[in-house]
Amino acid sequence: MTRVADSVAALRRAVAAFRQQGASIAFVPTMGNLHRGHMRLMDQARQAADVCVVSIYVNPMQFNQQADLAAYPRTPDADRDKLRQAGVQLLFEPDDRTMYPHGMDQQTFVEVPHLGDMLEGEHRPGHFRGVATVVNRLFNLVQPDIAVFGKKDYQQLMLIRKMVADLAMPVTILAGETEREADGLAMSSRNARLSSEQRRIAPRLHEALCEIREVVAKSPDNTRKVVKKSIQDLGRTGFEVEYLSLRRRSDLLPPQPGDQQLVVLAAAVLGDVRLIDNMEIEQTS
Ligand code: PAJ
Repeated sequence: MTRVADSVAALRRAVAAFRQQGASIAFVPTMGNLHRGHMRLMDQARQAADVCVVSIYVNPMQFNQQADLAAYPRTPDADRDKLRQAGVQLLFEPDDRTMYPHGMDQQTFVEVPHLGDMLEGEHRPGHFRGVATVVNRLFNLVQPDIAVFGKKDYQQLMLIRKMVADLAMPVTILAGETEREADGLAMSSRNARLSSEQRRIAPRLHEALCEIREVVAKSPDNTRKVVKKSIQDLGRTGFEVEYLSLRRRSDLLPPQPGDQQLVVLAAAVLGDVRLIDNMEIEQTS
């Protein structure tokens, strides 16, 4: 049975009961519409701690477009079934008043410099302020030992790691690998909004990242050329590429000679659906 808490008091009571039993707590924050990617994070959480706590909250502060917030899929009944089947002990499902009692404009916020402003942050102003602020509040409410985030949202994962380090928050962050459909498309709640034609094209984004990985790993001198070509090819296929960029993993800045731990990150729009994906690259030569 998954217990459900929708108020701060109910959440604190449930967490206190777990703590009294000496249980360790792993936390997976989500916005619901749960898919295999989310469920894998919960498996990881359950392996890492005694109790798995999940939150479902579609956080308005991180949406920079009203239409995107309004269109975000909400499937509370199916989500609860999945949580029960996965053996999740506690679901925190707050509403806006519980998360922002005095309204979003009155909410103290968290801003992570640099990492929050580039790539996704540049294209979605205010997005990462919303993410950092809500995750900070969720951490303070749940007080987990461990929290699990997906590499699918690579920059988000790095931003949370930096926030936790900078603010000395007593929580260990674990990363989960990106779950994909059979054709390579990264699983996402937004995929359901793709038309069948767009769904056929969508895996091209992952393929482009794989091609870039091949070239960067083998012949780094051709990196600039292959990235440019990928952007052009994706454009011809029907994507509107917002960014496709090779970065170093440590701080997501452009790689310098000698940097070997790299990641290529992309955001591209198909119709009115915005897809993001990324791929880690090991440069060996
Ligand atoms: P949401 O998009 O629901 O994602 C919740 C968690 O699932 C995130 O850590 C995300 O990286 C991970 N995830 C999503 N798709 C995945 C996939 N295909 N494979 C592996 N993990 C995947 O990310 C958010 O919600 C919000 O920004 C949140 C952190 C909850 C703050 O509001």
